[in-house]
Amino acid sequence: MKTIAVVSQKGGAGKTTIAVNLAIAAEQRGLHCAIVDLDPQSSAKCWHDIRRKESPVVISSHSSRLPYILQTARENGAGLVILDTAPHSETVALSAARAADLVLIPCRPSVFDLRAIVTSVDLASLAQTPAVVVLNGVPSRSVLAAEASTAITGYGVDMAPDTLGQRAAFVHSLTVGLSVLEYEQASKAAEEILAVFRWLCSRLGIN
Ligand SMILES: Nc1ncnc2c1ncn2[C@@H]1O[C@H](COP(=O)(O)OP(=O)(O)OP(=O)(O)O)[C@@H](O)[C@H]1O
Ligand SMILES: [Mg+2]
Repeated sequence: MKTIAVVSQKGGAGKTTIAVNLAIAAEQRGLHCAIVDLDPQSSAKCWHDIRRKESPVVISSHSSRLPYILQTARENGAGLVILDTAPHSETVALSAARAADLVLIPCRPSVFDLRAIVTSVDLASLAQTPAVVVLNGVPSRSVLAAEASTAITGYGVDMAPDTLGQRAAFVHSLTVGLSVLEYEQASKAAEEILAVFRWLCSRLGIN
């Protein structure tokens, strides 16, 4: 079983959007996946309530229960657990980073988001867990992604080679409790999330 902590101290970077979409990508690949919603806003849990399907399992929890939840997930045959964290809570982010095999930091290509990733990179380093950045909400036909890549490389953190565009499908799919892979299978958004998921699998040694 592998665990990914989705961490960003910046609100609205795309943590929940990416967490639920990766979970469905994992399920479609035949991996049992659970999402642990560590955010008191419970966005992932709300998505699951709208979804009205068993899988993926979404557990709302306090970070202090993480070791127990991960043990239970392992015993129940989970292949992947995704931890969706809260913004502005370093304690939760640090617990999640410590429990994870990989810290995934979503980042929008804006100066404020780019500055905010330093905290997440530091948290991952404190937890001694490798971190990677995924650029999210990249506008089409802009130089922002290239500029952001340069800035991210400067922080000494790896970046996913594929980025996630600013796409309505990411918003609409979540509103109806789906992922972009279910909502619009042949969309750019679906293509992008699959590319990021495959890259993460290779990083985690998931075949
Ligand atoms: N790639 C994208 N394209 C379009 N909209 C997006 C994209 N990613 C996220 N969004 C939208 O941006 C908003 C914030 O996304 P999300 O809730 O996933 O961020 P978050 O990091 O989990 O926020 P919080 O810090 O509040 O938990 C949502 O309305 C979501 O639908
Ligand atoms: Mg969220």
